[in-house]
Amino acid sequence: MQAVRLHGYGGLDELVFEEAPDPVVPDGWVLVELRAAALNWHDCLVRQGRYPAPLPLVPGADGAGVRRDTGEEVVILPSLWWGDGQEAPGTRFEILGDRVDGTYAELVAVPEENVFPKPRALSWAEAAALPLAGVTAHRALFGRGGLRAGERVLILGAGGGVATFLVAFADRAGARVTVTSSSQAGIDQAVALGAAGGVLYTDEGWPQAARDEAGGEGFDLVVDPVGAWADGIATLRPGGRLVSFGANAAEHADVSIRPFYFGQYSLLGTTMGSPRDFRAMLGLVDRMPGWRPVVGTELPLDRAADAQALLEGGGHRGKVVLTTG
Ligand SMILES: NC(=O)c1ccc[n+]([C@@H]2O[C@H](COP(=O)([O-])OP(=O)(O)OC[C@H]3O[C@@H](n4cnc5c(N)ncnc54)[C@H](OP(=O)(O)O)[C@@H]3O)[C@@H](O)[C@H]2O)c1
Repeated sequence: MQAVRLHGYGGLDELVFEEAPDPVVPDGWVLVELRAAALNWHDCLVRQGRYPAPLPLVPGADGAGVRRDTGEEVVILPSLWWGDGQEAPGTRFEILGDRVDGTYAELVAVPEENVFPKPRALSWAEAAALPLAGVTAHRALFGRGGLRAGERVLILGAGGGVATFLVAFADRAGARVTVTSSSQAGIDQAVALGAAGGVLYTDEGWPQAARDEAGGEGFDLVVDPVGAWADGIATLRPGGRLVSFGANAAEHADVSIRPFYFGQYSLLGTTMGSPRDFRAMLGLVDRMPGWRPVVGTELPLDRAADAQALLEGGGHRGKVVLTTG
């Protein structure tokens, strides 16, 4: 097969497009002929060597294609070996493309429990863009955040890839959505996806502005993909919840403990999602016929380095997708 492989860790030139052996398919696994693979920031961390593995390695967590043994069109859940618990993954959990060859290839082998029917309304590129961001957003909002219809939710960093899924899913679930962004364009994009409004996090005192935007009482739920715990907690109503799954703005938080416990707040971590979360996310997508993931750029597989350069350059809108054939 043709594939993009890492023979070392480091810069973009480590992504080598070449002929590679077809994947070995253990018992209980299936072979998928990939039509598209979507990029995530996580792929750049893999290339940089954040998750060292035996090389060569095919990176890539997100993919959609045709299951070779049945001919079924499928999307791939990149959470490998989640385990039996719904609360958290088991000790064997890892992400496809970290240590197991991933989706920057014509073929990928995955456990059978990780393939699911492709949503019919989506193109191959849109379907490939769905799994990692979609399952992360769904679990953050519902599996961990417990979001219910009628609740007020604040989503931090509206321009982010996962945030676009958060806004659309929360709106479809009947929540009132407010966002933060560094730009009016980011707020406008979120409003187009279903948000009621937003505030600029570049403005001093934005937590109070966000509370005012939502009626002044504070949010039932804050979803934080950026690492802004102190400001996020300041926007909660008493008893509110904050769900955290990203740290691209800050890796550490300085939180005042007394107001935290007097406020009876809940701080919840989440990462990726289980097969059950994924099935629930696909069900929600089926109930959103007009909605589709935003694909910003499609490039052929042999341009994986250009694709990761787009991610690392920042400022792109929508998912970057590699197509095969
Ligand atoms: N744990 C998991 O399972 C999991 C899964 C997926 C992603 N993640 C993590 O989630 C985060 C977001 O991923 P992504 O793919 O959506 O990233 P992304 O597309 O690069 O989005 C990042 C966004 O963060 C916002 N941002 C940056 N600094 C901010 C700040 N100080 N305050 C508020 N917002 C800020 C920006 O929003 P504006 O453009 O609106 O300013 C930016 O667009 C990353 O840290 C990623 O590693 C974790």
